[in-house]
Amino acid sequence: MQDILDRLEAMRAGARAGGGTKRIAAQHAKGKLTARERLEVLLDEGSFEEWGMFVEHRCADFGMADQKIPGDGVVTGFGTVDGRLVFVFSQDFTVFGGSLSEAHAEKICRIMDQAMKVGAPVIGLNDSGGARIQEGVASLGGYAEVFQRNILASGVVPQISMIMGPCAGGAVYSPAMTDFIFMVKDSSYMFVTGPDVVKTVTHETVTQEELGGAVTHTSKSGVADLAFENDVDAILELRRFLSFLPSNNREKPPFRPTNDPVDRREDSLDTLIPDNPNKPYDMKELILKVVDDGEFFELQPDYAKNILTGFGRIGGGTVGIVANQPMVLAGCLDIASSVKAARFVRFCDAFNIPICTFVDVPGFLPGTAQEYGGIIKHGAKLLYAYGEATVPKVTVITRKAYGGAYDVMSSKHLRGDLNYAWPTAEIAVMGPKGAVEIIFRGEPDQIEARTDEYRQKFANPFVAASRGYIDDVIMPHNTRMRIARALTMLAAKDLQNPWKKHDNLPL
Ligand code: HXC
Repeated sequence: MQDILDRLEAMRAGARAGGGTKRIAAQHAKGKLTARERLEVLLDEGSFEEWGMFVEHRCADFGMADQKIPGDGVVTGFGTVDGRLVFVFSQDFTVFGGSLSEAHAEKICRIMDQAMKVGAPVIGLNDSGGARIQEGVASLGGYAEVFQRNILASGVVPQISMIMGPCAGGAVYSPAMTDFIFMVKDSSYMFVTGPDVVKTVTHETVTQEELGGAVTHTSKSGVADLAFENDVDAILELRRFLSFLPSNNREKPPFRPTNDPVDRREDSLDTLIPDNPNKPYDMKELILKVVDDGEFFELQPDYAKNILTGFGRIGGGTVGIVANQPMVLAGCLDIASSVKAARFVRFCDAFNIPICTFVDVPGFLPGTAQEYGGIIKHGAKLLYAYGEATVPKVTVITRKAYGGAYDVMSSKHLRGDLNYAWPTAEIAVMGPKGAVEIIFRGEPDQIEARTDEYRQKFANPFVAASRGYIDDVIMPHNTRMRIARALTMLAAKDLQNPWKKHDNLPL
């Protein structure tokens, strides 16, 4: 018996040693933690149950038969975060560069299958040189098996990818199909083809960081949601992020009691809107003053900054917040902001998270760049996402709600449950000046007086309210209380869309 126990312990030690002290030191020298160290930070102490520690690859080519490391470059299993179950895989760059063999893929698939059965999030800590080159096509098959599970798990359990090293080639498509991608600055990168191939094909000279680093993907491409300074910071923020999410699509989001009174008045909001309708103000200030304890977990803060998306809590329950940001492009909708917000709204709807929308939108961004880029199709995504969402939807129009963008931003007509306006709201087909310049084209002396008339008539919330498009005109200082009451009323909301195999969202 003792022999077997000793052998077991030796095998465990072998797996824990990964690629050995030299490679672990190299990993640390790059400022990176090892796969196991990362899991120690992520999971509650002592909660990790590892699976597949003794799994080995089955490749015999290129001298691989005698190069076997237990676990085969990925640590998999389950554990808890704040006491809640999660499934994890953490790729070990010290073992064959974290590359994905058939056996490595099977381990990932195993936890994904189990996560779907029991309804718990899948968290992937990615640090991999891609397909295990010695295995060839078996590795490609392994990737596709993971992809298929990403697709089936989408909308069933939250899937989160943390990119903590290389992620290149077709390997990027697994994270791409997960709900959120977080990256670590300076040590992670994602691209379909690397700088050398780019140079050969397009003659562009570009560094790895410029092509696919964390800053690129969080500010230029919008592929990633957030970038963090280092591994520890990234994983601690991931723990905080999980506190907003339900474990699966059958659960409501977790409730976190708060001492922040739901009827807290915020008198400063009464003066948030400047007297000049063309002057910007920071919509984030409103969000921070409305949510519990001023805690807003913003997503994609550096991408499509004309719209804000993220999670907060009101009265202890998670809400997804979408808000036009008048500080950037006057808060108008364009391709990037429509796509950013649409994906967020769809996540919230898939996972029973009520959506709170703050509106100050002068319309869609005009121009050839937008039209040639397909703003018609991309703008439709946000419209579609709001219209199909069946979760509670509470909307507050703070100032402008013009034209088609009024309809899009969770309007009453798209089954908004409670639609409120501040007294400063202007709900109209377009801004007063633009409107009058069209109606009185060729009569320049009329413009000023008629603009005033138009403003008096339409630049207010009362025309819309008289038609029932607005449920009430509320005092800004009561916004938190009114939203909280609306969400309490809507807690048991039940709304079903017609049966269909799946929809045909404009892609
Ligand atoms: C097997 C690999 C590997 C791989 C790295 N290693 N990538 N082993 N398959 N794909 C091994 C190295 O041999 C080395 O082993 C160890 O991992 C560390 O690699 P280094 O090169 O020393 O590290 P570094 O300098 O940090 O460079 C990291 C790297 C580089 C940029 C990722 O290793 C690299 O370019 N690897 C190949 C990437 C690649 O072309 N992958 C296939 C892409 S195609 P030792 O024993 O020396 O420690 C693909 C298709 C997926 O992924 C398709 C899905 C549909």
